[in-house]
Amino acid sequence: MRFCVAIDGPAAAGKGTISRAVAAHFGLAHLDTGLLYRAVGMKGGDPVAAARSLSSEDLARPDLRSMAAGEAASRVAVIPEVRAALVAFQREFAQREGGAVLDGRDIGTVICPEADVKLFVTASPEVRAGRRFAETGEGTFAEVLEQVRARDARDMGRADAPLRPAEDAVILDTSDLSIDAAVARACDLIAARRG
Ligand code: CDP
Repeated sequence: MRFCVAIDGPAAAGKGTISRAVAAHFGLAHLDTGLLYRAVGMKGGDPVAAARSLSSEDLARPDLRSMAAGEAASRVAVIPEVRAALVAFQREFAQREGGAVLDGRDIGTVICPEADVKLFVTASPEVRAGRRFAETGEGTFAEVLEQVRARDARDMGRADAPLRPAEDAVILDTSDLSIDAAVARACDLIAARRG
């Protein structure tokens, strides 16, 4: 059975954790699409050539979760040819027999507009910066907050596939929710749609 869950939202809102948990709960494959952009950003050289030749080694780099990789990702993600080069891989993944969860910025709007469930996971910039600061231990809280705000502005302001909730997405604000509570809400929504 094909069943696609699209999970979008800004940096450090909890998309990754929620996506992994719901994928495990329902036995669906999971693709963290941010990793594709992080790998392109960290590969160096011409980003369009990097996106067209992305390999499994590029995706296995140990530094893809760093703040620098997130920053590099959002810079290459504004380039339409980079985005176009990554579409087919993501759509094929979404069509997997057995179902899939994809998380990113444009899954419900561009990659899988026909997804069975669309979630837009968000939280205040301060809460997100606090989580990212605790997770990476890089820089100061003020620096991380500044980066989160800058990344939001770039992701929401770009012309191609800007970050925004799909019209039919369910908004999940995790500012005041524990991760367990957020996962439980997401699982309830998906279970209701799966029937
Ligand atoms: O984990 P975090 O939410 O901080 O970032 P990520 O999901 O790994 O994405 C890193 C960057 O890649 C984002 O800031 C976006 O600019 C870009 N991205 C995108 O444009 N489209 C996606 N589907 C996924 C990521």
